[in-house]
Amino acid sequence: MLVLGIETSCDETGIALYDNEHGLLADALYSQIDMHVDYGGVVPELASRDHVHRVLPLITETLEKAGKTKSDIDAIAYTSGPGLVGALMVGAAIAESLALALDVPTIGVHHMEGHLLAPMLDAEPPAYPFLGLLVSGGHTQLIAAKALGDYEILGESIDDAAGEAFDKAAKMMGLPYPGGPQISKLAEQARAENLKSDLRFPRPMTDRPGLDFSFSGLKTFTLNTVDRFKAEGGSERDSGLTDEAKKAISLAFEEAVVDTIRIKCRRAFEQSGIDTLVVAGGVSANKHLRKVLGDLSSSMKTKVLYPGPAFCTDNGAMIAYAGCQRLMAGQQSREHKISVTPRWPMDTLESVSESA
Ligand code: KG4
Ligand code: ZN
Repeated sequence: MLVLGIETSCDETGIALYDNEHGLLADALYSQIDMHVDYGGVVPELASRDHVHRVLPLITETLEKAGKTKSDIDAIAYTSGPGLVGALMVGAAIAESLALALDVPTIGVHHMEGHLLAPMLDAEPPAYPFLGLLVSGGHTQLIAAKALGDYEILGESIDDAAGEAFDKAAKMMGLPYPGGPQISKLAEQARAENLKSDLRFPRPMTDRPGLDFSFSGLKTFTLNTVDRFKAEGGSERDSGLTDEAKKAISLAFEEAVVDTIRIKCRRAFEQSGIDTLVVAGGVSANKHLRKVLGDLSSSMKTKVLYPGPAFCTDNGAMIAYAGCQRLMAGQQSREHKISVTPRWPMDTLESVSESA
């Protein structure tokens, strides 16, 4: 079964062709980051309009790369939520129209299920049950994945997502969007230079039991720290921070977020008895997080897996893959109704056994 995957939930247009026998045949991605950078974040209307321009040319490019034509497509999988409503609508409208024209079924895919299953595109995929740590710009969740579609949320952020916290902290320091990679780069530099700093950010919600996260307090802490550095520098409130200060804050901030995640992952391993953790979503690209979770898993004799580098951030391959699994289990739609679910809790997903 050849499945065309379409991802348009945020600021990346991702297209892929996945075949249940031959695996991923081709994929293509367009990132809108350069367009949103001037605004310090994603502008939803601009994102939707740009997806309109990108989807069809990227489908043509992906078909060409795979040596296939539209008539080879057996089904279309597209992200139907969660995400920006306008951006999701573009993917849904194109997917459903194309499916109607080609007379093939569609399946609406949950974006975070796509992230969770992205490591399945690897040569050595994890087996169920496994734990999932989903850390992106919109989500921070610890999940027990028991089977396809059977996901128990063990803990999640009660306010900001981890990626969102990185982005907001970066903005306070005057760093460009998206802030995660910027903070990570400065923190790496601080480590390489052995920068000495006694800054220590709080590890929110680690002193009480449970697996929920909260990152909004770190925002206030960052703002106060930025203000203090500026005042100590003797400069006016809105003047810049020194490079040294940016590095020190980035280092302390990254360590606080990563350490908080480590503590919760350790608890999740202990409480669930599951020995494999899949880490996915944009923040999973963070080098320090990978190092710390690597050390944790060696000490606990557990395994930590990541999607391949191209599939950590938003992409079409994870949507084509997740859609293909559900289609093969018998889920599909031929209604060609254009509807999306911008807010969609993951534990309300239909499990495959329910639909069978
Ligand atoms: O999964 P993703 O590409 O998009 C969604 O939010 O669905 O995640 C994007 C988020 C952004 O907040 C970005 O700042 C963060 O992932 N991010 C990082 C790093 N690379 C991307 N955060 C920390 N360290 C990184 N290296
Ligand atoms: Zn994502």
